[in-house]
Amino acid sequence: MNPHTRFHVTPHQPFGLLIGPAFSGQTVEQLPVSELRALAREHHLLVLRGFAPTFRDSPSLTRYARQWGEIKMWPFGAVLDVREHHDATDHIFDHSGVPLHWDGMYKPTIPEFQLFNCLHAPAENEGGCTTFLNTRALLADVPPAILELWKTVRVTYRIQKVVHYGGEVCSPLLVADPRDGQWVLRYNEPAEKDKRFLNRHALEYHGLAPEQVEAFEQDLHRRLHDPRFFYAHTWQPNDVVIADNFSLLHGREAFTARSARHLQRVHIHGSPVCHNTALAHAGDGLPIATQG
Ligand SMILES: [Fe+2]
Repeated sequence: MNPHTRFHVTPHQPFGLLIGPAFSGQTVEQLPVSELRALAREHHLLVLRGFAPTFRDSPSLTRYARQWGEIKMWPFGAVLDVREHHDATDHIFDHSGVPLHWDGMYKPTIPEFQLFNCLHAPAENEGGCTTFLNTRALLADVPPAILELWKTVRVTYRIQKVVHYGGEVCSPLLVADPRDGQWVLRYNEPAEKDKRFLNRHALEYHGLAPEQVEAFEQDLHRRLHDPRFFYAHTWQPNDVVIADNFSLLHGREAFTARSARHLQRVHIHGSPVCHNTALAHAGDGLPIATQG
């Protein structure tokens, strides 16, 4: 075995794996992608920490990401620079929190993985954790009666397209993971009321009576933030995080304005590419309750 491809693996709480170098100076590029991909599919979150600085710019990150599979391209290219814009029109580029969601929800194709690279971490006490929810673990814990209710719920989401995404989709709350058919949860939480939030999205529930909506939302919110399934990642410089976009939801905690926080993100498609059936269903069904 090539000694340069070894790495240390330890369980990460509350889910995922922490992957560290086997020797001083080891880079992420030296790790075998096929092994990492298999671990990411099994454990859903890989935190690669302690490696020598590996990706200093978009081209080096893009070259690496290509080894993972087909890169999902965006109007801005392969790499999204996630940092605060002083003239932001959407929450993505603001310093507010970002509610849990899945990437690609408004696009024709949904990527399997997100590959994050931390160029600049926020300072201590500035906030800005990226949040992850393990929906498979959550669903395994949900009482059968609630699971049956959730199987009947669909949600229409609408958001103005002011940056690189937007529009209208209607997704079942529970969908089959395209890899193995197991249930996963797809939900874009409403933004918190009475808090700064640029480009607020709207939710419209189907399959719930209007009087059920408030209790449904409260119960769902409590379950989505259960610390047994919810993880907030505090970034360190050069962290590389691989997240499973099929089985996890993700979001962001608010951070201090003008923080140096700068992440890069690349989307990797699955094989075969996952097509977004929620787009085809947008506009179907009778809306019976609306939540702005
Ligand atoms: Fe996202």
